[in-house]
Amino acid sequence: MQRMKVLIFAGSTRQQSYNRKLARVTAEMARASGAEVTLLELGDFDVPMYNADLEARGTPADVMRLKQIFFEHPAWIVCTPEYNASYPALVKNTFDWISSPVKSDPAWTEGFKSTRGKVVGVLSASPGALGGLRSQSHLVPLLLNLHCWVAPQNYALGRAAEAFDAEGRLVNEAARKPIQAVIDQVLFAAQRLNA
Ligand SMILES: Cc1cc2nc3c(=O)[nH]c(=O)nc-3n(C[C@H](O)[C@H](O)[C@H](O)COP(=O)(O)O)c2cc1C
Repeated sequence: MQRMKVLIFAGSTRQQSYNRKLARVTAEMARASGAEVTLLELGDFDVPMYNADLEARGTPADVMRLKQIFFEHPAWIVCTPEYNASYPALVKNTFDWISSPVKSDPAWTEGFKSTRGKVVGVLSASPGALGGLRSQSHLVPLLLNLHCWVAPQNYALGRAAEAFDAEGRLVNEAARKPIQAVIDQVLFAAQRLNA
């Protein structure tokens, strides 16, 4: 069987981001589960705040790159921070740009081309006790609107400031089990939907 291509990314560009650490741990685990993983750093892309006037002058090159990357991966795992009980603007801005049709490019006139039918696992991390769980409750409807299939299993890593060692390894071994459960569901569903 061909290895499933899984895109893993965090909704944070912060240097010491807990969600970036969680994304790295999840990427290692997904690779060990046989997936072909792309660990995406949103900070590597020069994407302005969405503005339709700006877009009318031409979709930024890095948005086009992101569209292609998301399109090429049938499965994604997103690690989202929680800002004010929701997901950060970075996550919304990224999805708004990649779901906006590019009228001047016949390959990208369909807005949901890069998001439709993707199987998505949702993780979050926060220094708080709830681990960013409330951000997930807002992110899931967004993903459904983008025509994604959201894995029923999720995981919110609480007390994230104490969860990793200096090398970014998970200190709390017990957290690996629910992360693995999300990976397993994403691979299970993506393999069947793309058989
Ligand atoms: C504007 C703002 C709002 C925040 N609101 C919440 C919140 O509602 N719940 C929560 O658990 N943490 C909240 N936090 C704290 C974040 O969870 C914390 O900054 C976390 O480290 C961000 O994720 P990162 O480490 O991946 O960058 C907030 C942080 C900021 C900057």
